[in-house]
Formats: sequence, C-alpha cells, structure tokens
Amino acid sequence: MMNVLTAPADPTLKKGEARCPGPSTQDLLRSEPSNARDPALLIASDAFLGDEDLPFSRYTSQTFYERELTQLWPKVWQWACREEHIPHPGDFYTYDIGPYSALVIRGDDGEIRAFVNACPHRGMAFTDAGSQGSGKQFIRCPFHGMSWHLDGSLKEVPCRWDFPHIEDTEFGLDEIPCEEWAGFVFINFDRQCGPLSEYLGVLPEHFKDWGLEDRFVAVHTQKVLPGNWKMCLEGFLEAFHVLATHPEVIHTASWANTQYDLFGPTVTRFLQTVATGNPNIEQSQQEIYRLLGYQDELPAGVSARERHAAIQRAKLGQQWGTDLSEVSTSLMLDSIEYHLFPNACFFPGIQIPLIYRFRPMGLDACLHEIMMLQPVPDQQPRPLPAQPIKLGLEDSYTSVPDFPLAKVLDQDTENFHRQWAGMKASLKKGQTLANYQEARIRSFHRTLDGYMARA
Ligand code: FES
Ligand SMILES: [Fe+2]
Repeated sequence: MMNVLTAPADPTLKKGEARCPGPSTQDLLRSEPSNARDPALLIASDAFLGDEDLPFSRYTSQTFYERELTQLWPKVWQWACREEHIPHPGDFYTYDIGPYSALVIRGDDGEIRAFVNACPHRGMAFTDAGSQGSGKQFIRCPFHGMSWHLDGSLKEVPCRWDFPHIEDTEFGLDEIPCEEWAGFVFINFDRQCGPLSEYLGVLPEHFKDWGLEDRFVAVHTQKVLPGNWKMCLEGFLEAFHVLATHPEVIHTASWANTQYDLFGPTVTRFLQTVATGNPNIEQSQQEIYRLLGYQDELPAGVSARERHAAIQRAKLGQQWGTDLSEVSTSLMLDSIEYHLFPNACFFPGIQIPLIYRFRPMGLDACLHEIMMLQPVPDQQPRPLPAQPIKLGLEDSYTSVPDFPLAKVLDQDTENFHRQWAGMKASLKKGQTLANYQEARIRSFHRTLDGYMARA
C-alpha cells in the first residue's frame, strides 16, 4: 500500500493535477448504487488557480479589514435568517454585519421584506443587533414614535404639523433586496445588485432534491472565535487538517482523498466520505465496522459503510419521525460542505446537517454560528426553531446539550488561538497552500479580490 503521507510529488504531473494515491472519492461514490439518486455528488470540478503564497496581511491588516467593510459586506448576498424564524405577519429578525443592519420582517401580505434598520427621522435603529420578535402591527421608532406599516410605507408622524417639508410617499423606509432560497432569507445592502439566483450559481440545481426548506433548526449556536473571520472560516474549508487536529477519526473518515470542487466564483465544495477507512491505513471492513461502534459480524459482501448507512437510515428515521429509506449512502453519511461566498456553508447531508455563518467582530475576532437542520417529522407541524446558545471565546461546545460534534469543534477552535498568534508573529510574508486540498481557500481569495478591486 502506498503511504499517502510520504509519497513524493510526481514531477511528470502539471501543477494542481496530483491527487492522493489510492481510490478517489468518485471511485467510492460510483461503486455505491444508491448514490445515483444524487447526480450532483457524482460531479468533480477542479481547477489550478496558482501556487504563490497568500499574504498574512490579508488577515492581519486593519486597512484590509476596513476595505472589506466598504467593498465587500455592503455588496454581497448573505442569509439573514430562516423563513421559520419569521412565520407570521409582523415577525422580524435583525441581521447585522459590521456597521450595516437590516430589519427583516414579514408583511401583512405574507411577503418578507428587508429595510435598512435606521429611522429616517434621526437615525435611530428600530431594533437591537441580533434581536428577533413577533407580532408587530407596525414598525414604530422608540425615539420619537414615528411609525411605518409593515410594507415600509409611512403610517404616522407625531406632531405632523411640524413636518410640512416631508411627503408621506417619500418618507418610507429604505427597502433593500431580499430573496429566499431553500428556507433561507437572503438580503443584500446593494440596491444595484444582481438577482440572488445568479449569485447562488449551482446551488439551486444541486440542492433541488435535498429539501433544506423542509428542515428545521434543531440546534443553533453562536460562538466567538479568536482571529480574523477569514482565517476561522478557512479552518472549515479543508479536511487536510483532520490528520493532526482530529486524529481520532482518521481510521473511519477519509481525509487525504477528500474531493474539492470549484463551481465558479461564489460556490465551492468538499466531499469527505465517512465510514470508509483511509487510503493510508490498511484495515479490513470488519475492523472499520468495529471502529464505527458495532460488535456484531459484518454480513459477507457488505461494506462497513453500506451497513452503517442502512442502520443510520432506520435509527435516525425512527428517532426523527421521518422516512429516510430512500436517502443515498453518501447523502446519509458524508460530510458534504458547500461554501457560498463570502461567509456561509451549507451541508445537505442527513447525519451531518450543518449550516455555518461567519461574521467579523472587528479585525481580531469573529462570530461563528452553527445550525443543525433536521428534517421536519412526516405529517407533523414544523417544530419551533431552536433559540441560539451563545458561547464566549473560552466556552466549550461540550456545554451545548445533545451536540454530537462538540469535541471536534473544540479541537478546531483551539487551533484558532495559535494560528492567529502565529499569523501575526510570522516573519514569512504569507501562507503556502496545498494546490488541491486548499484550492477552495485560493478560490475564495480570488473572488474577494474581485470585490476589493471594484471602483
Ligand atoms: S429618530 Fe425615529 S422617530 Fe425620531
Ligand atoms: Fe476540523
């Protein structure tokens, strides 16, 4: 067996062509008949985007950070909340990013709209950052009591006699673009932006049968992480770090042969198979099955992974009150992560149903949100979305009840303290990325450069 850790680079290959020795993710997925139900998982799409070092100053420079505040955040689509957070007229959610704030509210007509969260009178924010609430009849400013209908049109100005210089029709709230996809409400602070559907690239096509709109928020965490938001995000864009950071899973989850895909400027993906064993570790299917926690004998001719998927379909289906019998093995088990530029990740998998969002909290810290999206039980009302659990810089994910990934996430979080310190201390000017396994990071920065260069 070829040792993937020590196998040398092949000089006959062009840059970016080298892959982990041994079976690929596609070899495995195509050998499992059920995965034909998910054609999006049978696509591989990569490109070589260069191998020059990426400057640390992109993370550590206050000037670069401030340019992001003017060039990036007011120009990109970003999801603000789930539709289920605001199911009824008058329900609202406040989404903030840097100095920008949007009040997302459902109208009497059922439409969801987003308004700049600032009073046209003297600029008061209507609602607090991150707040949500329900049943507003109208939007009333807490400062002097001016009010607006839920569609943003002016309702009332106290002491109207003192404002002869305003026209009711021109004193509405500033509405900003707001669209929905897969149960997520997206906003954009740029009123000249293109449509969300264009920005989403391949996502609507890939996700069309994965029903994220039929999931509910079972767990929601908001944790402060040390370090620039891009550095923290990038810690979740590759599986290369599994070897050293999460050594307990390398016997069952692939890492070196994880597949990385680039789908245009805004969407990238990794596909990390689970319950497969690793190309660098010689072990039998029975051994892998044991490592997955089973004591019985694996039936002849069945892989540990297929057996594990069948057991999980039945177990989670019963636990969640939903029929998972038709879910493919890959969708059932694998860590399938789509990144949408700039700050969101969507995992459509059933066992690993994560949503990530990263927002800067100044240069030195960021807020990492995680949602677990579980299928809504069959023929049952949608459960209420979980309220966010707030975790400070030093808080462990193990304090979150029923959170299966707590240990892994704590391992990731511990890295960020050191990486942020090292990035600032480094005499070397930039980081040296792997050509294939870290190509998503390079793609991300290429798209970021496009926004930073705009007039
Ligand atoms: S600032 Fe809003 S009513 Fe005065
Ligand atoms: Fe990790």
